[in-house]
Amino acid sequence: MPKTPKNTMKKDFLLAPSILAANFAHLEKDVQMINESKADWLHIDIMDGVFVPNISFGMMLCKPINKICKKPLDIHLMIEKPERYLAEFATLAPYMLTVHVEACTHLHRIIQQIKAFGIRVGVALNPHTSVSLLEEVITEIDMVCVMSVNPGFGGQKFIQNTYSKIRKLKTLITENHSKALIQVDGGVHLENIPLLLEAGADVLVAGSAIFGAKNPLKTMEDMKNQEL
Ligand code: DX5
Ligand code: ZN
Repeated sequence: MPKTPKNTMKKDFLLAPSILAANFAHLEKDVQMINESKADWLHIDIMDGVFVPNISFGMMLCKPINKICKKPLDIHLMIEKPERYLAEFATLAPYMLTVHVEACTHLHRIIQQIKAFGIRVGVALNPHTSVSLLEEVITEIDMVCVMSVNPGFGGQKFIQNTYSKIRKLKTLITENHSKALIQVDGGVHLENIPLLLEAGADVLVAGSAIFGAKNPLKTMEDMKNQEL
């Protein structure tokens, strides 16, 4: 009797390594490594020390990264009142510009402002924030970033509640005929990728699991080859 074939169903997803976990002493080398990799986007974490308890970097570093990076930029703004900096980040022509719902008093206006620059809009949700807060804007946005750790630092433990949150978000997106992608950010590694894809994730951000690996290129390849 022929052996039952292993379920080798693959779900395509986009992989976005987070530069926050790179070695900033040789950033150019790490960006070039990403250029040669299977990564789809480069995820850039901007932290202001107010919205999140950590400061990362700003335009001074984004500009040179943008110059040498061949992958589309996925910029994640973890800053209060992001409207103050939209025009500046727009000069980088990122593929996606993401703001936090908790940091925007006038989220609808900010979404329109980003769109006016001709840039795709992402909206991020902290772990405690309900997906229902996006009900009125879900058809207006290109991506929802579900934070699977509390934003501010790389290398944190994945929050298990994320799976059910992705499912709720998927329902919201489907019911509203929205085209928004579901991104998951924080604590993503080889082992939880199949479960995240099964729950409905489209874009996975990974920092320490990639840059902390012995062979980041091979790790990215293995991540992209994960099966459901
Ligand atoms: C957390 C950042 C994440 C972080 C992910 O505030 O938004 O993008 O770099 O890092 P890991 O994959 O190490 O959790
Ligand atoms: Zn991020």
